[in-house]
Amino acid sequence: MSAPKQRDDTPAVVLENVSKSFGSHTVLDGVNLTIPRGTICVMLGPSGTGKSVLLRCLVGLLRPDTGRVLVFGENVAELDEKRARDRDRLFAVRRRFGMLFQDGALFDDMSVFDNVAFPMRLHTKMREDEIREKVRDRLARVGVAHAEDKFPSELSGGMRKRVAFARAIAIDPDIVLCDEPSSGLDPVMSATLDELILELHRTLGMTFIIISHDTAEARMVAQYIGMLANGKLVTFGPADQVFAENHPALEQFFTRQTVGPIKVV
Ligand SMILES: Nc1ncnc2c1ncn2[C@@H]1O[C@H](COP(=O)(O)OP(=O)(O)O)[C@@H](O)[C@H]1O
Ligand SMILES: [Mg+2]
Repeated sequence: MSAPKQRDDTPAVVLENVSKSFGSHTVLDGVNLTIPRGTICVMLGPSGTGKSVLLRCLVGLLRPDTGRVLVFGENVAELDEKRARDRDRLFAVRRRFGMLFQDGALFDDMSVFDNVAFPMRLHTKMREDEIREKVRDRLARVGVAHAEDKFPSELSGGMRKRVAFARAIAIDPDIVLCDEPSSGLDPVMSATLDELILELHRTLGMTFIIISHDTAEARMVAQYIGMLANGKLVTFGPADQVFAENHPALEQFFTRQTVGPIKVV
């Protein structure tokens, strides 16, 4: 079976009734959302509420128990890496994503250059001179052009994030997934990172899906906002609408109240 035909207005991501449990613990409970292509979407939510699980479902690293996960129209939820006939389709979908993991996760034994070149060498047939040009372009875009010969251990936390960003956008993904990009950074550094996200979005035009529990970050970059709480997507939509609606869970989150619809466990 071939992938469904894409129209230009196919959303980047559609989730339909996505649920995921681990044993008796329901982490995602009937999540529905549509992320239009080319937008920046910030998903907020307290710790342990399933934000990373959601991202893993998008790239087919986890399969939901029910529901559809459409990435540019392809239902990732029905693809199983263990089935040979699904593997090519799954890898084709994964190639459309660039991932910035929660912990940065650079390869410590590789130089900055080789870290960024890694996905190009793994997933493309680019020649070394093309790779060199592209790596330098990516490092320049994230403001660490001078660091290509350094090793991750020689870099500050902020620089490591930038390099991880360069690697995430290395092979021109359609969607960049950022799992808590500002975690572990001071407020000034995380604001700088937000500016970088806006700049990359403006110049490269890809879709960004950013997991965060930083409300300042959401205000700064989001065009769409979703809020996960207690397994449900309690609100989702264009940022100005979501801010105007001021859902109690969002309000609790933004005002740092310990009492409200978000259950603290
Ligand atoms: N592979 C797994 N097996 C069992 N439980 C898991 C697994 N992955 C995540 N969980 C549980 O799902 C919940 C949500 O996790 P996660 O998505 O990582 O939260 P967060 O919103 O902080 O990113 C947590 O309670 C976590 O323990
Ligand atoms: Mg997480």
